[in-house]
Amino acid sequence: MCGIVGYVGASPALLVLLQGLERLEYRGYDSAGVALLENGKLYVEKKVGKIRELVRSLWGKNLKAVVGIGHTRWATHGEVCELNAHPHTDNRGEFAVVHNGIVENYRELRQEIESAGVSYVSQTDTEAIVHLIALNYEGDLLRTVLKVVKKLRGAYAFAVISTREQSRIVAVKYGSPLVVGIGKEENFVASDIPALLPFTREVIPLNDGEVVDLRPDGVFIYDFEGNLLTKEAMHVPWDIISAEKGGFKHFMLKEIFEQPRTLSDTIRGYISRDMSLPFSLRDYRRVLIIACGTSYHAGLIGKYWIEKHAGVPVEVAYASEVRYANMPVGEQDLVLAISQSGETADTRFSALALKEKGATLLSLVNVMGSALDRESDHTLYTHAGPEIGVAATKTFTAQLAVLYSLAVSQRQDRQKEVENLLKVPHLVEEVLTRAEAVKNLALRYAHSKDFLYLGRYLSYPVALEGALKLKEISYIHAEGYPAGEMKHGPIALIDEKTPTVAIAPADRVYEKILSNVEEVLARKGKVIGVGFEKDERLKSLCDAVIEVPTVEEDLTPFLTTVPLQLFAYYIADYLGLDVDQPRNLAKTVTVE
Ligand code: AGP
Repeated sequence: MCGIVGYVGASPALLVLLQGLERLEYRGYDSAGVALLENGKLYVEKKVGKIRELVRSLWGKNLKAVVGIGHTRWATHGEVCELNAHPHTDNRGEFAVVHNGIVENYRELRQEIESAGVSYVSQTDTEAIVHLIALNYEGDLLRTVLKVVKKLRGAYAFAVISTREQSRIVAVKYGSPLVVGIGKEENFVASDIPALLPFTREVIPLNDGEVVDLRPDGVFIYDFEGNLLTKEAMHVPWDIISAEKGGFKHFMLKEIFEQPRTLSDTIRGYISRDMSLPFSLRDYRRVLIIACGTSYHAGLIGKYWIEKHAGVPVEVAYASEVRYANMPVGEQDLVLAISQSGETADTRFSALALKEKGATLLSLVNVMGSALDRESDHTLYTHAGPEIGVAATKTFTAQLAVLYSLAVSQRQDRQKEVENLLKVPHLVEEVLTRAEAVKNLALRYAHSKDFLYLGRYLSYPVALEGALKLKEISYIHAEGYPAGEMKHGPIALIDEKTPTVAIAPADRVYEKILSNVEEVLARKGKVIGVGFEKDERLKSLCDAVIEVPTVEEDLTPFLTTVPLQLFAYYIADYLGLDVDQPRNLAKTVTVE
């Protein structure tokens, strides 16, 4: 997620922009830049790396501008380099834009722009916005922006300044966050509240389809039709840290609740165009997925989807096990390395070893420009934004979205699957409305010493993931197991003190998982079910059931995982543990 800050007033804009951008650093970024209206001209400075690089390059420049925009870039389109950093300007240097989001139709817009004789210098989708504004400008920035937004498709928030209108910023919100800050004879705009708090606590969060016209003496908000809207400012009581958590107690909880948006951001990136891979999975004899931890669990689910929709054999292995094994791998193999950080040593070194043996290396990462991204032949990206909590949540479901898109992209007819996938963000939203019920259930079991998580088929990796979530943040022992395997030994563990979480959506193995639940009950075990709403059979067997909306079998992992994330979170929080930074753990394990 990129960060945007804008200022118009009577103080030096640069100070405001740099402080505001520093408050957005938690969002993660790979480059930063500012554009100022300095003595009637656009002054632009942008650097790859941290904000301190930008500060260093601005040192001693004595810039006095009182209007400016700033940006921290989390690359979605185009590599990490100065040319692709924001702000972006038109060829005549009269307009500057900073943007957060994805303009899905930027390729066709770029053709339109270049055929108008305008040179397009970067690899970004953002540059299309500034050129369209310059090409359509007829004397009023607001009217121009209202015209340009009708040409854009995707999710975006952007701000624009112009040498043609000195004391003005126009900004737009559609799909990506944008908040207005109200000051005295000065006004602000930013991607998130923390960037505003050093200057004002009076804020107006914009809604999708709104445009704000910022001037020193006033803020005017319109809809896309140009109708003036009346909006009340709200007072923000938070301190900075809680503002970065968006009012949530922990980053992990914020990230769990971000999933509807991060899923739609990720799905949008793939559904509106193909996977843009120069090969089909069927070009290979096998897909070998390697990963660690939560990413490994995503790979196990991806296996079922790819084998079902692409008909290609898939093997999933722990990266730490593959590197020193003698796995026969060659040019006929496609290695898919899954790593949200793109820096996990086990995954990177195993991937490189397999690439050495001739395999094609495709990676799935959340961080563009990460080591694995740079070392791979091809890369797919999740668009979950930086994940601050050590326990992976939103990046896991984003990985699932890409894996499902990859699997169904191999089908001739995938209309139904695409429609299914587009429903997922809303369905996850619905699951999240039941968080209070999950919390009440979690508190009933918070003092248990051992848990079993059982699932079959697509729910087996979900069981593994649910158990890992609980283990890593509550320090309670939890074991994920294939339900069908219980009778081969682990059922000896069952007693009335060991709760079993059974993930039991009514899918192809529903009858089987219900008989596994019966086996547990027969040994006085208590069962917490995770199943479809109004499933009376499951309810009759379980001590409690966490209900999720009824969906097609393929989609069940998206919905059954979320309650297990919440279940683990509420137990760990109840136990007073450091949910975001659990003991002994690092967010990225860069050692073997
Ligand atoms: C998951 O909650 C853990 N943080 C951990 O298992 C993590 O998934 C694993 O270290 C892999 O990280 P990666 O996806 O960045 O490679």
